[in-house]
Amino acid sequence: MITIALPKGRVAEDTLKIFSRIFGENFVFSDRKLILEIDELRFLLVRNQDVPTYVYYQAADIGIVGLDVLEEQNLDVLRLLDLGIGKCKIVVGSEINKPIDYTKSQIKIATKMPKITRGFFSKKAIAVDVIKLYGSIELAPLVGLADGIVDIVETGSTMRQNNLEIDQVIMESSVFLIANKNSFLTKKSKILTLQEQIKAHL
Ligand code: PRP
Repeated sequence: MITIALPKGRVAEDTLKIFSRIFGENFVFSDRKLILEIDELRFLLVRNQDVPTYVYYQAADIGIVGLDVLEEQNLDVLRLLDLGIGKCKIVVGSEINKPIDYTKSQIKIATKMPKITRGFFSKKAIAVDVIKLYGSIELAPLVGLADGIVDIVETGSTMRQNNLEIDQVIMESSVFLIANKNSFLTKKSKILTLQEQIKAHL
């Protein structure tokens, strides 16, 4: 049995389509169910940010998750394959015509990714007050909560519609196949076969 943690939403749907193509079966979660078991595969539907946790503690052998989440959580899991889907950028953003004043002794940045934010600015020796939010990050600079944001940009439409622009790009992200280190030893051939099959069906 291989247990696979999937992030709720489009990435889970796209991944299940890939598995459906590989195995010629229809992998679909019914209604509000969080576990889907077919033959030797068990899929878990979890929150995006929780995928590395399930894999790290071996509640799942493998998982599908964005590089942004992996970098933010920084848990010790194996990165096996870049699926090339779910592409986005992590950027520093600020209001159009109101760039972040980096000469200030400390800048205020609103984000749901405090680790990436601290890491990025500390490398540049810029003092930053990180304001942790859980969503609607783009609102923060508009109401004076922060000088700027660190957030995910996919189509760019949220930033555009809220009068924000990209200041700089921190990293590019896409969705990765990850594995628990112990599972990778004990179920190596199964996991490697799956990796090859996924690669062939992208
Ligand atoms: C993410 C991100 C941006 C938006 C970017 O938020 O935080 O707000 O998507 O996408 P776009 O460039 O295509 O407009 P999400 O939709 O996850 O909602 P949240 O703000 O509640 O986290």
